[in-house]
Amino acid sequence: MTVLPAADAPIPIFTTLKDLYGSLATAVKHAERWDELVREFHTKFGRKPTYVARAPGRVNLIGEHIDYAHFGVFPAAIEHDILIACAPRPASTATAHPDRHAPGSVVAENLHTRYTRQVFMPTRRHTLGDDVPLDAVRVAPWHLDIDKSELRWESYVKAGYYGVLNHFFSSSCTSPVPVPVDILITGTVPPGSGLSSSAAMVVSSTLAFLAANGIFDGEKAPTKGELINIAVENERRVGVNSGGMDQSASVIALPGSALYVSFVPSLHAEPIVLPRDAVFVCANSLVVSNKAESAKHQYNLRVVETLGAARVLAHHLNLQVDSRDGENTKRRLVTLREVLARKSGFYRDEQDVQQEDLVQLRKGLEDLLEGNVLDCLLPKIEGRTGVTLEEMIGMGGMDEAEFREVYLSWVDVETTYFELYLRAKHVFEEALRVLQFREVCLDGGDNEESKLQTLGKYMNASHASCNDQFDCSHPKVNDLVQVARSFGEVEVGQRKGRVYGSRVTGAGWGGCTVSLVHREDVEAFIAHVKKKYPSYEGMSEEDLAGWVFATEPGMGACVFKFTD
Ligand code: GLA
Repeated sequence: MTVLPAADAPIPIFTTLKDLYGSLATAVKHAERWDELVREFHTKFGRKPTYVARAPGRVNLIGEHIDYAHFGVFPAAIEHDILIACAPRPASTATAHPDRHAPGSVVAENLHTRYTRQVFMPTRRHTLGDDVPLDAVRVAPWHLDIDKSELRWESYVKAGYYGVLNHFFSSSCTSPVPVPVDILITGTVPPGSGLSSSAAMVVSSTLAFLAANGIFDGEKAPTKGELINIAVENERRVGVNSGGMDQSASVIALPGSALYVSFVPSLHAEPIVLPRDAVFVCANSLVVSNKAESAKHQYNLRVVETLGAARVLAHHLNLQVDSRDGENTKRRLVTLREVLARKSGFYRDEQDVQQEDLVQLRKGLEDLLEGNVLDCLLPKIEGRTGVTLEEMIGMGGMDEAEFREVYLSWVDVETTYFELYLRAKHVFEEALRVLQFREVCLDGGDNEESKLQTLGKYMNASHASCNDQFDCSHPKVNDLVQVARSFGEVEVGQRKGRVYGSRVTGAGWGGCTVSLVHREDVEAFIAHVKKKYPSYEGMSEEDLAGWVFATEPGMGACVFKFTD
């Protein structure tokens, strides 16, 4: 991915919590947690940390499962975050623990008592040719064992570390080697909840290892855009081919704004202020959805289905999407967005750095959805909507070996039918809803109530499409959405509760919902959901507070540096 100047800013480094959180009040709210982290670091490692890396989770307001088709999405960072305290290990402990002083070795602790201490060390093998000078030897990449079949918390730490090792320590045998590091983690983003705990883990881990190795103090310090690219690549190491939304939101977020994140021609994040009375409330269905473990049947399968749909559409529309090398055609992956752009005549070279034209994009989407071009994605056989692998290959105009190489060699998926039509229809409709949602937020008009109603309508339509066409909801998530919407029937003072819309957020198949609620009704709404969602029955207020909460768009990833 190339990155526009919007993402060119450096990663912020703070030395006070007030600056980090943007206000004294928020800093005070979090101070105890930071104190505990520093205290425990001292207890476990016998010294103070030198840095704390922080990365927030995110809530996606609208635009689900379209980032990997390269359409824009609309997330905001939340206050919940992952903090990683770190410090290079001093040489003075080398005698007591020589094993922990190998280059780049890590002792990782988690503040949560459920997770035990992990010690790991990167390795690399390189062979020296006889007459090659030492500094010219290309070395093998660093390696860390990540067991994708059984993901544990430290897998995400390792995934973040991987990128640091291979981007900053790999050029030659004489390059500096990574220092041994101690880290301690704490987090408030619930795992498997659709609030992007995995991106927050990977981003904060990447930052912690960069900081501990002094990379922020040198000219190699990455920009926000570079950090996003490294973090996306890193998260793929745990087996998920995610689209880039989560990492962008976690890194670029600004207090008080949601982001319109677009990917073509380059990654770009536009801060968008939400209507004054809009508050987004997250509620956890308590159905844990681990997108890495279920990727084969769910997340990665959707990635392949949307890519397959794009290939079939391109073939049907006779679009020239492959490159030619003399007589040979070089097949490549093409996204639904690229097919739309080529079909509508606004496709430009990927290297073009101009920002995308949203008027053109919207018109292209509307025209496509008005016609019946998507019918070419349906099977010839009545009674089903999906196609078999053989049918998909034939419909895409490729031979089987080519198709398997380009579309399946890098990913493991399993299904009988690929639902090309339903997935593509969701993607195009959802992409249009995101643009409409953005326009309402940017509308300078002062009819707040009608704005909120329109935004809510888009959110409800998004949920229906996620459930019916993209099949990424869950019966319990649907129950929770119904509970949220039923607040509209409840008397609050002299009128009905003001909830405007509710939908699944994030990858889905469990996890959280996000609901749009009027600022004045937030408390009553939260109480209603806590009382009415059956899975919350019998829970303490303290637990419930972690499952249902209002969010205000917060600050993106950063590093805290201890100065004394
Ligand atoms: C996960 C992925 C994102 C995005 C969402 C669905 O969170 O990491 O890239 O695809 O699912 O919108």
